[in-house]
Amino acid sequence: MNYDFDTILDRKNTSSVKWDYFDTELPMWVADMDFKAAPEITKAIIDMTEMGVYGYTMIQDKWYEVYIDWWKQYDTKLEKDWLKYTTGVIPAISTVIRKLTSKGDKVLIQTPVYHVFFYIIDDNEREVIENKLIYKDKQYSIDFDDLEEKIARDDVKLMLLCNPHNPIGKIWSKEELERIGQLCRKHDVVVVADEIHGDLTDPGRKYNPFINISEECRDNTIMIIAPTKTFNIAGLKTAAVCIPNINLREKIFKVIDVDCINDPNIFAIKGTIAAYTKGDEWLNQLRQYLYDNKQLLKDYLKNNIPEIELVPSDATYLLWIDCSRLGIHGEDFCDFLNKKTGLLLSPGVQFGKVGEQFVRINIACPRKILLDGLDRLKRGVELYKNR
Ligand SMILES: Cc1ncc(COP(=O)(O)O)c(C=O)c1O
Repeated sequence: MNYDFDTILDRKNTSSVKWDYFDTELPMWVADMDFKAAPEITKAIIDMTEMGVYGYTMIQDKWYEVYIDWWKQYDTKLEKDWLKYTTGVIPAISTVIRKLTSKGDKVLIQTPVYHVFFYIIDDNEREVIENKLIYKDKQYSIDFDDLEEKIARDDVKLMLLCNPHNPIGKIWSKEELERIGQLCRKHDVVVVADEIHGDLTDPGRKYNPFINISEECRDNTIMIIAPTKTFNIAGLKTAAVCIPNINLREKIFKVIDVDCINDPNIFAIKGTIAAYTKGDEWLNQLRQYLYDNKQLLKDYLKNNIPEIELVPSDATYLLWIDCSRLGIHGEDFCDFLNKKTGLLLSPGVQFGKVGEQFVRINIACPRKILLDGLDRLKRGVELYKNR
């Protein structure tokens, strides 16, 4: 079956964060997709609504099975006991931060990184400590000396790893992950591996689950996974925490219960099961569509807006664009773009000060919308240069 990614959906006035939060014509910021989810998932949800009863929901055995089966494609053997349902990746990370660190402790993140990492560390009254990624020749790499120096500090007990990495769209290599694993083990720093973007890789590419890299990685990690980015079902509020190490697992599973983020809504379990059992062909076609969108954007920038450049990536539908030759500051360029053209992008500075010269664009939309966005971007850059 050929799935449809070309139809333009009207998401305005649907309480969509992407379309209704800001007053804008063309939002290409928050990470959800302007595509319908796979019809197989929608059918599972319609079947529930047709029954018409919205009572309490429990986690079926099938829920565990589908996670275990899905991760086999990554040569990763999950076990039922390792898995626990949570209402989202961020709620789980927030709970882990509270359990494994104390007020004033530092939590390490690799910047530029998903902006919500900053907020949850800050909201829990912990401090961010940044291992700034090195940006050279349009490639990002890890500054391992800086990483070791920082995780060796007594007040750093936790590292949030974004694997693959949002916003730079990088699949970390096994070697990079292995070194992170070794350093964290050596200095007793627990790793939270946020792998929500793991399935969204370029066709033919696979991400490397952190727990699969080595014994050290497996024993020292809280892996958090979900079908929500992959299948565009973030509103179902469904994720899984996976912890192979029994001591860590007992500690964290208990607080997930205490914090009451263990209870699914009526659609969360059915949606997850449908996604992981019936969504694979939809996902294959989606990955090709996203890849083609990325190529289109890359060519468009090269031919029409040579002042700004795409940072090459191999995962996620979030593209990171280097605007350093435009000399943008803070949020000024994105504000300007929105005001003058109606296009809303994410300012790079949201992802850390190191992102200041960048913007992030979400290309998970029908091609016509992408072209509209690129035309607006071109117009905006011209106006910005001549302002
Ligand atoms: C790296 C990363 N983690 C977590 C989330 C959000 O996860 P959830 O909606 O399950 O809290 C996002 C959403 O964009 C993300 O990019």
